[in-house]
Amino acid sequence: MGSVGEIPLNQPTLFNTTVAKQRGWVVEQQELSVFVSTQDGTDFVALSDRCTHLACRVRFVDEMEQTAKPGFFCPCHNGVFDASGEIVAGPIPRPLDRFDTKVEEGQLFVKEV
Ligand code: FES
Repeated sequence: MGSVGEIPLNQPTLFNTTVAKQRGWVVEQQELSVFVSTQDGTDFVALSDRCTHLACRVRFVDEMEQTAKPGFFCPCHNGVFDASGEIVAGPIPRPLDRFDTKVEEGQLFVKEV
């Protein structure tokens, strides 16, 4: 996905990557956008940028109007997630999807859970 040195502390950053998905005998390449955040440069959280309501793209906001805290906003139907991807408001059925992360030789990898 990218070098861990590119990820600022305490600021979810959007990365675009391509993943291979196997469906039966067919392997498809799929574009993926993931918000990656870290507080210490060691442990990473990776969240999908797709709203769990109808899959619009969410954006990170430093101070949400509803909470006065950082979070993710979905403009399609005013969906609000907190900074960890949990539901705050709107017609959202579940938190933002998370990815497993691992670091090897300074590179961050994500995998769908
Ligand atoms: S698609 Fe995000 S709130 Fe509806």
